[in-house]
Amino acid sequence: MAFKKIKTLDELQTWRQNLDGKLAFVPTMGALHDGHLSLVKEGLKRASQVIVSIYVNPTQFAPHEDFDQYPRQIEDDIRKLKEVGAQTVWLPDTQDIYPNGPEITVHAGEIAKTLEGEFRPHFFDGVTTVVARLFECVKPDIAIFGEKDFQQLQVIRHMAETQKLPIEIIGAPIIRDENGLALSSRNAYLSVEEYKIAIQLNRIMKEMADGQIDEKQAHQKLLEADFDKIDYCCSRNSATLKPENPNHILAAVWLGKTRLIDNMPMLAVK
Ligand code: PAF
Repeated sequence: MAFKKIKTLDELQTWRQNLDGKLAFVPTMGALHDGHLSLVKEGLKRASQVIVSIYVNPTQFAPHEDFDQYPRQIEDDIRKLKEVGAQTVWLPDTQDIYPNGPEITVHAGEIAKTLEGEFRPHFFDGVTTVVARLFECVKPDIAIFGEKDFQQLQVIRHMAETQKLPIEIIGAPIIRDENGLALSSRNAYLSVEEYKIAIQLNRIMKEMADGQIDEKQAHQKLLEADFDKIDYCCSRNSATLKPENPNHILAAVWLGKTRLIDNMPMLAVK
C-alpha cells in the first residue's frame, strides 16, 4: 500500500471514514528519532494501520521556550516513517487544530501540578488541549506515547479516563543511545562537551534507583558532573507521582540552554 501524506482535516476525515481495521495513532512534534520509530513499531504490532501526526504545538511552549528553534525536518521524518512501515502521516496546520486560535480548552488536572508542572506550569494544559483535539480528529482505537515523558503519559491516561475516551493508551519503553542517554529531539541541541556530561544523568539515576545513593547525594553528584541546574531528581510513586510509596525516579536537569528529562523504576523496590 502506498504511503499516504494527509494535509487537510477534510482529507483526514474522508480517509478515516473509509478505513477498515484497528487504527493506532502516534502523535509527535517531528524531528523523529528511534524513540518515535519504536512507538510506530509498537503500533504496527497492535493494529493494522498506524498514523503519525507531526505538529509542533504552540500552546505547550511558554513564550521564553524553544518553539521557534524546535527542530523541523519534515522530509527526513517522512523518509523514516516510510522505512519503518507507518502507512500514513498527518501534517495538520494550526487552523485545523485551533479553529478559534491557539488557546487552552482542556485542563490537565491534579497529576499535572507536580514535577514538570512546577517548572513548566503551561505545559500539560497545552498537551491535553492538543492531544484531545488530535484524538477528536483521528479517532484512533489505540494511541501510543513514550515512557520517556513519563508524567505526560500519566496525564494523558488520566485525561482519557476522565473524558471516558474509547481509546486505549499505551506506554512504550524509553529508547536509549549506546551511552544510556534517553533519546529526545532536544538532544540535537547538545554540544560535544555537553553530551559527555549528559550521559552521566542515567548513570547517577541508576545509582539512586539501586538504592546506592539518596536524593541529596544524587543532586551533589549531578552538580559535580557539571550539570548547570537541577529542576528535580527525586523518587515518586509511578501511578500518583506523589512522594508517598516511591517506586520510580524522575529527573529534569539543565545543560546550558538544554533541558533533559529522564525516569526509571527503582530497582530496590518490588
Ligand atoms: O510528546 C510530544 O511530542 C508532544 O508533547 C505531543 C504528545 C505530540 C503533544 O504535542
